[in-house]
Amino acid sequence: MRASIAAVLVAALIASAAAQEFTAAKHAPANAFPKPGRPVAAIVSPVWRDEKERDNAGESAQLVRLLGVKPGITVADIGAGSGYYVVRLSPVVGARGRILAEDVTPAYLRKLRNRVNDLGLENVTIISGAPHDPMLPIGSVDVAILVHMYHEIAQPYGLMYNLVPSLKPDARIGIVDAFAPTSEHGTPPDLLRCELASVGYREISFDRLSGSNAYLAIFAPPSVESRTPPQAIVACKPG
Ligand SMILES: C[S@@+](CC[C@H](N)C(=O)[O-])C[C@H]1O[C@@H](n2cnc3c(N)ncnc32)[C@H](O)[C@@H]1O
Repeated sequence: MRASIAAVLVAALIASAAAQEFTAAKHAPANAFPKPGRPVAAIVSPVWRDEKERDNAGESAQLVRLLGVKPGITVADIGAGSGYYVVRLSPVVGARGRILAEDVTPAYLRKLRNRVNDLGLENVTIISGAPHDPMLPIGSVDVAILVHMYHEIAQPYGLMYNLVPSLKPDARIGIVDAFAPTSEHGTPPDLLRCELASVGYREISFDRLSGSNAYLAIFAPPSVESRTPPQAIVACKPG
């Protein structure tokens, strides 16, 4: 009897080690990637004076339409901050869909958890990520959004590389940012294109958003196998 319990424990340990090795093979550590060749903005939240002003600008409605956010899909909100998009997209994806609300700032995550609990949003999962890795479940994401936060990512190459395993093969990544230098809380479009292309992402569309000085750029991801290996990624410089 003892021998069979020991055998089960050994088998479980081997399976768990294999699972960790599988995940580790798909992810790379922070020090594997080049540092960005441009300033990284300080973390701030929120961007607008209040959510009403933001609703009036119609940013969320434009994002839903251009990215095709619909019932039943899983949306990863990377850098979810105070939860502006979490609250608006939760009813759009509905009970069969899911919002993975990820951030790296513990204080924002705590407030966001309270907001989600207070509103009773049952289709939201809060995730604590790292600057080089959003740590999302493998093969889970239909649409990933990075709104007014790309310029704050300390490790953009690591984050975009380690995001890939969590994406479904036909996933779309929508990046909203201002037409401004990264030091002024925006990302120049050509710099964004260069940084994403250097990991293997392909641009699908680019739209100027009405109501603000921002754009929505949509990208298709590379496969896990076709990502640029971390040591081959060359940091882009602002033009
Ligand atoms: C200006 S706020 C925008 C919040 C939200 N996306 C919105 O549009 O209201 C930027 C957020 O990005 C988060 N952030 C910065 N670097 C990040 C990273 N590497 N990964 C995930 N979140 C990050 C910050 O903690 C902050 O909550």
